[in-house]
Amino acid sequence: MSEFLRACRREPTSHTPVWLMRQAGRYQPEYRALRERYSFVELCKNSELAAEVTLLPVQQLGVDAAIIFADILLILEPLGIGFHFAKDDGPRIEQPVRTAADVNRVSSSIDADDSLGYVMQSIRNTRSGLPKNVPLIGFAGAPFTLASYVIEGGGSRDYMHTKALMYGDPGAWDALMEKLRATTANYLNAQVRAGAQALQLFDSWVGAMSPSDYERFVAPHMRKLFAELDKSVPVIHFGSGNPALYPLMKAAGGDVIGLDFRCELGATWDALGSDVAVMGNLDPYSLLAPLPELRRRVKHVLDGACGRPGHIFNLGHGIFPQATVEKAKALVDAVHELSAR
Ligand code: CP3
Repeated sequence: MSEFLRACRREPTSHTPVWLMRQAGRYQPEYRALRERYSFVELCKNSELAAEVTLLPVQQLGVDAAIIFADILLILEPLGIGFHFAKDDGPRIEQPVRTAADVNRVSSSIDADDSLGYVMQSIRNTRSGLPKNVPLIGFAGAPFTLASYVIEGGGSRDYMHTKALMYGDPGAWDALMEKLRATTANYLNAQVRAGAQALQLFDSWVGAMSPSDYERFVAPHMRKLFAELDKSVPVIHFGSGNPALYPLMKAAGGDVIGLDFRCELGATWDALGSDVAVMGNLDPYSLLAPLPELRRRVKHVLDGACGRPGHIFNLGHGIFPQATVEKAKALVDAVHELSAR
């Protein structure tokens, strides 16, 4: 079994496995060259190119896991929610979902093998090109994070419309979360059948919730979602923005809790307990520091984990377009060297 999958199962490893969220993307010259010829969504839907892009960071950086090249928003198309990526301005939802009547118009089931069949084909293509010891991660957006996009109409700072629906019409909120939960479970299980060897749920914006609101409006849906997922692969539950939520996220489910950079990994893991693995949590902008400082910061994260089995090294959020392949490679090398046992 690979070092990455061993760490997901909290088994000892010869070094700490490492991969980087958003490891395929605009910081790579090869990716930027492809983007001159294809839009982002065209790349996602072209299963040969998507597999090529997925393999790039494995070849360039020597990461211990690949993540399929796709996006959390692709599921919106089969749900009947139109979106596009505005130039340099992130995702735009064409008709935001803000009322009970809008929620009624969202599909409650999808056949992911059919409507997202291109992702399954990318997974099969990637698996055939990956070395045996580098597993492939499938992923989806968690229902809260998807809901926030479809309600706000794009990214948000304050989640005003999301909270207006949640607090003003909890029945409509739960109905929307139910639909997103059921379709996400179907999508993730299809990815496992296609060959994904681990799964990650991105609850990137859940940090906008207080712990009591998380318990009421998010956790019941997450518990149901985890119960529906294929038990043959480990699941990483990533959330960002509010470290007070980690114990509640652990209780909701997941074999690995993905930590952002706002917490100390050691203390957070102590509080979560040794019956769960953790992933994280270097501040991505550490990649802007000179090499000795980058290595010092890598060592700080590794020291927090203290060699306990069950740590997967990652950034505390996605790598950014201004990073360089050289620095990203230096980071991966530093993790391997400083954690060798
Ligand atoms: O990690 C990987 O390499 C796999 C591919 C991947 C992408 N998006 C490709 C992508 C993954 C796992 C995602 C997840 C994703 N998508 C998240 C959760 C991760 C996080 O950052 O919290 C979110 C919130 C999205 C939604 C999304 N997609 C936004 C807000 C944007 C625009 C902003 C941005 O960073 O570009 C995207 C576009 C996107 N998704 C790109 C890539 C490579 C850039 C597209 C381009 O080439 O212009």
